[in-house]
Amino acid sequence: MDNLNNKFKEAYEKISYHVKEKLKGEKSGHDWLHVQRVIKNSLRIAEKEGGDREILRFASLLHDVEIGLEHEKGVDHATESAESARKILVRYGLPKKFIDKVVYAIRVHRYGKKIVPKTLEAKILQDADRLDSIGAIGIARAFAYAGSRGAPLYDFNEEVSEYDPFNVKSVVTHFHEKLLKVKDSLHTDAAKSIAEERHRFMVKFIERLMKEISGEA
Ligand code: NI
Repeated sequence: MDNLNNKFKEAYEKISYHVKEKLKGEKSGHDWLHVQRVIKNSLRIAEKEGGDREILRFASLLHDVEIGLEHEKGVDHATESAESARKILVRYGLPKKFIDKVVYAIRVHRYGKKIVPKTLEAKILQDADRLDSIGAIGIARAFAYAGSRGAPLYDFNEEVSEYDPFNVKSVVTHFHEKLLKVKDSLHTDAAKSIAEERHRFMVKFIERLMKEISGEA
């Protein structure tokens, strides 16, 4: 068992370094800082909900590792990151069952795919990732993302429709299509309770933003 623990420890350290290097210069809000927050969120949720902490740490660490491919080639980063994660984890000789669970959680993590995961760890990863898209941090990331894609802050001629990650819209439209709906997409009670205040904060922010744009405030 000690041997296996050492394997996990060594793999985690080396993969962290790899992910950090790979995400250098990432401009869309899926950078190393996001990864660190998702790891923290996952473990925070697991404190109340249970779940395998090792699976969660590795799945969170690798969940967006191929985000760059999505920007370059328009492919789905969740699928690509899952495949990449399998290759990386196999190299460290970690147990197959463990790898399968990490890979599964990564593959289904994407919000836009609307997949309800079959495992607790995959549910927790989805929730952890989604929590990072709401509240003050969610607001900050939404504007950073729009900036990286050349999208405007708001465009009132834009139609609010079904969220499509490959159709980049203004930040205000993005709030209505996705961010204000995130709290209702969460699986665990722990994440739902964290989301409540974050959601309220966003609603307040949007109200205020509208007032300033319209000249009421
Ligand atoms: Ni993410």
